Amino acid sequence: MCGIVGYVGEKQALQVVVEGLRRLEYRGYDSAGVAVVSQGLLDTRKKAGKLANLESLLGTDPLPASTIGIGHTRWATHGGPTDLNAHPHVSADGKVAVIHNGIIENFAELRAELALTGVTLSSETDTEVVAHLLAAVLPDAGMDLAEAMRRVCLRLAGAFTLVAVHADIPDVVVGARRNSPLVVGRGDGENFLASDVAAFIAHTRHAVELGQDQVVELTRDLINVTDFFGNAAEVTEYEVTWDAAAASKGGYETFMAKEIDEQPKAVSDTLIGRVNDEGVLHLDEMRLSENQLREIDKVVVIACGTAYHAGMVAKYALEHWTRVPCEVELASEFRYRDPVVGPRTLVVAISQSGETMDTLMAMRYAREQGARVLAICNTQGSTIPRESDAVLYTRAGPEVAVASTKAFLTQIVACYLVALYVAQVRGNKFGDEIAAVVRELAEMPRKIDLVLDTTEEMKALAQQLKDAPSVLFIGRHVGYPVALEGALKLKELAYMHAEGFAAGELKHGPIALLEEGVPVIVIVPSPGGRSLLHEKIVSNIQEVRARGARTIVIAEEGDDSVVPYADHLIRIPACPTLLQPLVATVPLQVFAAAMAEAKGHDVDQPRNLAKSVTVE
Ligand code: G6P
Repeated sequence: MCGIVGYVGEKQALQVVVEGLRRLEYRGYDSAGVAVVSQGLLDTRKKAGKLANLESLLGTDPLPASTIGIGHTRWATHGGPTDLNAHPHVSADGKVAVIHNGIIENFAELRAELALTGVTLSSETDTEVVAHLLAAVLPDAGMDLAEAMRRVCLRLAGAFTLVAVHADIPDVVVGARRNSPLVVGRGDGENFLASDVAAFIAHTRHAVELGQDQVVELTRDLINVTDFFGNAAEVTEYEVTWDAAAASKGGYETFMAKEIDEQPKAVSDTLIGRVNDEGVLHLDEMRLSENQLREIDKVVVIACGTAYHAGMVAKYALEHWTRVPCEVELASEFRYRDPVVGPRTLVVAISQSGETMDTLMAMRYAREQGARVLAICNTQGSTIPRESDAVLYTRAGPEVAVASTKAFLTQIVACYLVALYVAQVRGNKFGDEIAAVVRELAEMPRKIDLVLDTTEEMKALAQQLKDAPSVLFIGRHVGYPVALEGALKLKELAYMHAEGFAAGELKHGPIALLEEGVPVIVIVPSPGGRSLLHEKIVSNIQEVRARGARTIVIAEEGDDSVVPYADHLIRIPACPTLLQPLVATVPLQVFAAAMAEAKGHDVDQPRNLAKSVTVE
């Protein structure tokens, strides 16, 4: 949510900043802006709409050459997405420019205070107060921008990442963070600040994590980090394991198409090195002792959006393999309902970005209650794993398209690894049983590849159904969260009414939605093993068809029982029902992306959404 870039070095700052913003545009894209300092003057350009609008403005109204600059892509909170509300915001004296991600909760109070000193705000944003406050405290702070930032931060309530430059301090960029992401990139004779390493990965893979409530001062040769009181802070440095190519489209039309295709590799990378030849699991990064895992009496999964659906899938496997009760809860609801969690609860926080504020706040609450928190996360160095007791990283690589795809599959795999590990430690399963599941998991990348080879039918179907007023998805068992995920993808990308239902629940109300021709996508479990489940869903398909629905049936190869009831039959490779989400979700992702394309929507940057949501 809101992309932030800061640069100081020897290169043309504007180019570095705009290129960084392009890589961060997935975070928000309702307006964009930049500021540079050149020959004692601060100059900004900002424009509503996508980054391309700002780039055209820069074409007709260029900025002067400069080696220091900041830039921002916005996801509006306070004030609509207009030119005026776009960041950077500048102080009344025209000297300080500030960009911001987050919400300053006491801004009304600060605005009133500024009004008393004669400062009136020109935008509707909460951010602008920071520019004026910095200008006001700077003389007293000895014209030290970092010191001024520290003093201002102590006055702010809420979540914020702030980055500022000053016209009279032409070699310094200052950043601050509380509850919002900010990473430093250490270069050679140049340094970077960004919400995400993707912004500077083309220049350096050396990253510096910033902790909570810290201020960083950057010159081209120096990175100085303190807390809000000016005490020197310890920082952790790390090497980013992927390169710029991983975060580019690589010849694909959209990031989403590329990321869908990367799923076999993402799944196999997430498995690599975590299981030995005998099928015994070693989750080294887990940092939870075997004793701690033996003591847990409940697992609570917290997550948002697609990650929540991964958690729902995990519940089936976790309870089945470990016999430990598992609840799955939307992170945004969790801490507001006085949940029953304590020292024997294992809270699993699933987050691709590691920065989702709802999930972060829920896990902090759980830790306060004494629970142990295990993060399943895709982003090294992000806040959620840093604040967790243990972490298992998914290895999906950078996910840029706003609608999550490869992260989802890897979250499921990571949850399965955790569940199997818990079963191994607690002795719920024999070693050979665990090894058998692990072997099945290792087969999944190949099976996902097979699905990817046969997506044409789903694409053609999207063309046919693009004017349908709504699409329903039904499934049972793990097919139910897959149905929810299929519907979410369609809402996100095609902006159409889509609902996922537990197939058995349909008759208790939603079946009233059915009329002639309504497309119903059915996820059919494997006929092997749990045949009762399979029989039930075959009956559900007949029920919807009898009411005129157009049935699109996703069933495994060789399952002929569904043939008579399927208007369209989409085949997926056979696999145990618990693992089926790893293949059954893929046609739904392809369908949603194709539907968005057919309707002329932007697949990678759907309206109103942001990939990393750092406000509650
Ligand atoms: C946003 C994204 C979703 C994502 C959710 C959780 O809403 O648009 O695609 O599933 O956040 O994100 P996380 O990074 O915590 O997995």
